[in-house]
Amino acid sequence: LAKIEIKLADIPEGKSMTFKWRGKPLFIRHRTGEEINTEKSVPVSTLRDPQHDDQRVQKSEWLVVIGVCTHLGCVPIANAGDFGGYYCPCHGSHYDASGRIRKGPAPLNLEVPPYEFPDENTLVVG
Ligand code: FES
Repeated sequence: LAKIEIKLADIPEGKSMTFKWRGKPLFIRHRTGEEINTEKSVPVSTLRDPQHDDQRVQKSEWLVVIGVCTHLGCVPIANAGDFGGYYCPCHGSHYDASGRIRKGPAPLNLEVPPYEFPDENTLVVG
């Protein structure tokens, strides 16, 4: 399937859920207010792959990323690692709650796929 439709009400605040999209894991994270504040205030100049959180999310509450580590392609674990986002156990890459690489061998942030919100309660990826 080229597109996947997700009902946002199914994902509670603070949770990251994994879906499958075009054969790859897709992480949808319902971020808490604290996570949003933390990610918005990270100085971009300190980042390996410099992107402000605003460039990575359309709505602050929702992070949508491909769940494939940019090092060698393992699937990171949610809510783990030193930056509270995702942790890749294969070689120890730590991603933040914006999916940005913060520590470890991965060169790039987790990829953001094309997506839209057709209405308040629905996310369509693809
Ligand atoms: Fe994720 Fe190597 S594949 S750290």
